[in-house]
Amino acid sequence: MMRLQGKTAIITGGATGIGRATVQKFLEQGANVIFTDINEENGRKTCDELKRVSENVMFIKHDVQSEEDWALVVSEANDKYGRIDVLFNNAGIFSSKPIEDYTIEEWNRLMGINVTGVFLGMKHVIPIMRNKESGSIINASSIAGLKGAPNHALYGASKGAVRIMSKDIAMEVAQHKIRVNSIHPGVIQTPMGDAVASGVKLTTEQLASHIPLKRLGTPDDIAHLVVFLASDESTFITGTEMVVDGGSSAR
Ligand SMILES: NC(=O)c1ccc[n+]([C@@H]2O[C@H](COP(=O)([O-])OP(=O)(O)OC[C@H]3O[C@@H](n4cnc5c(N)ncnc54)[C@H](O)[C@@H]3O)[C@@H](O)[C@H]2O)c1
Repeated sequence: MMRLQGKTAIITGGATGIGRATVQKFLEQGANVIFTDINEENGRKTCDELKRVSENVMFIKHDVQSEEDWALVVSEANDKYGRIDVLFNNAGIFSSKPIEDYTIEEWNRLMGINVTGVFLGMKHVIPIMRNKESGSIINASSIAGLKGAPNHALYGASKGAVRIMSKDIAMEVAQHKIRVNSIHPGVIQTPMGDAVASGVKLTTEQLASHIPLKRLGTPDDIAHLVVFLASDESTFITGTEMVVDGGSSAR
């Protein structure tokens, strides 16, 4: 039996990186997947490619900051499948520079995508999950939401907000058997991971040498955890923060 057989999932930011790897793993495990992204061209291309894994995949262009877009995505998913079992709030952007160089517009944009996007996703999906008295929500935070780092004030604040919001909502919806967990990747080899490496002016090899397991993470390292949290193997896990960082934050 496949681990996500019969489940319907919404995954944001699925055109590339961690989101794309997760869409693929979900399809391999039997889920119906509606994935979204603001980048329509990449989203459509990814969808065509992943149709080779399973026909049960659909792409919708979506800006996670837009409440109108969220209402549309959730109603399309619910109309098509009659249920939403999993929400992976994965879409996010990264930024790194000294605090005095940030503008208020940059602050609002980063918070809009990384925090408001997560809030809106939960707000719109929870009523559907509540009807079935079950569901799993996985929110992408980061080790930057657990530990401080220079030049990370905006990104770290956004990921810290995701961490605690996940725990708050977990407490709010536990009575309906809906679970909410945050995940905290270290540096993962994606377009964003490349931006992290160039922000600290290190090659990926140099960055890897600072990690106890001596490698960067792969998108599949994260996708495997998300499959576990989405599946019925984790039905006693909620309100927790799961770190996948090769040991970096254990120091
Ligand atoms: N890569 C890392 O090293 C790393 C580490 C820790 C946490 N994370 C988190 O994991 C998540 C995925 O990261 P990734 O490395 O795959 O990133 P990525 O940049 O490779 O991909 C992110 C995807 O989100 C999409 N996106 C951006 N803004 C959007 C919006 N407004 N609405 C909808 N989609 C939007 C992008 O088009 C892109 O396809 C992010 O939340 C990120 O903060 C990544």
